[in-house]
Amino acid sequence: MEERIISGEADLQDLSFEQSLRPQTLKQYIGQDKVKENLEIFIKAARIREETLDHVLLYGPPGLGKTTLAAIIANEMGVNIRTTAGPAIERPGDLAAILTALEPGDVLFIDEIHRLPRSIEEVLYPAMEDFCLDIVIGKGPSARSVRLDLPPFTLVGATTRAGSLSAPLRDRFGVLSRLEYYSEEQLTDIVVRTAEVLDTGIDPKAAIEVARRSRGTPRIANRLLRRVRDFAQVKADGQIGETLAKEALELLQVDRLGLDHIDHKLLRGIIEKFRGGPVGLETIAATIGEEAHTIEDVYEPYLLQIGFLQRTPRGRIVTGLVYRHFQMEVPAD
Ligand code: ADE
Repeated sequence: MEERIISGEADLQDLSFEQSLRPQTLKQYIGQDKVKENLEIFIKAARIREETLDHVLLYGPPGLGKTTLAAIIANEMGVNIRTTAGPAIERPGDLAAILTALEPGDVLFIDEIHRLPRSIEEVLYPAMEDFCLDIVIGKGPSARSVRLDLPPFTLVGATTRAGSLSAPLRDRFGVLSRLEYYSEEQLTDIVVRTAEVLDTGIDPKAAIEVARRSRGTPRIANRLLRRVRDFAQVKADGQIGETLAKEALELLQVDRLGLDHIDHKLLRGIIEKFRGGPVGLETIAATIGEEAHTIEDVYEPYLLQIGFLQRTPRGRIVTGLVYRHFQMEVPAD
């Protein structure tokens, strides 16, 4: 897959940047008000009862702050966080090693939890439910199962695909929180906050300009801000004014809705080759030379969200908004 500045997926630079800038408390965390409100109550209640917090599943598109929220949960509970990811756990023993090393109350964060192999999920069930591990010792007729107690812990799982989680795993989470795309106002606040942390002056109108092109996603907002800041340092005095921000964003080839050349290729392809659709996902994939699941997971969610694409039983169609965005005449049908 081609590198995109407007991808919601994290690259290495994002990860180190996010770690140093990350809000530490629910109060500092901007947006996701419903999720925050709920978590605040559950965390307070658990603290009053001196219990561990119930297991939490965070789901939603990449870049919206699932990892940040997991770290905040641990911080607000006053416990440590241990972080791993579904694809990193290959054998049941890998998970057993992680679980037995936990301290009482710890948060265990499993990113991409939908990618845990089924055999490992099964180790998780008793761990989540009864804080114990069932280990089989020996082989054949002499094999026997031993139960090992674990310290109580909170599992925070994150996934971009809640639908891919098995029902038994999903059912073991007490709190299910869906993260939504951020509004332009919330993203503007995030850009202003990040600029402050970076000690960079930014004009409010420039912050709005960055926010508008960030596809509802803080990770993209912060990434665009970093690139605009480079531009300001080299081409100006380091201050990010409105005109400079617009120039820099043009150079990055991100249009005023945050769409890049791949979105353009996809949308124009449907218009020019299929008269706006409906057209099947596989056909689109073949036309633009991308994998169908990449289109589905990476390109489409935002286009659906802003009403540029619709999914119908007969395939994808582009809406009138796309024709207007490209300054094309909207067809009568
Ligand atoms: N940086 C990235 N996401 C953020 C958020 N939701 N609140 C504050 N700062 C952020």
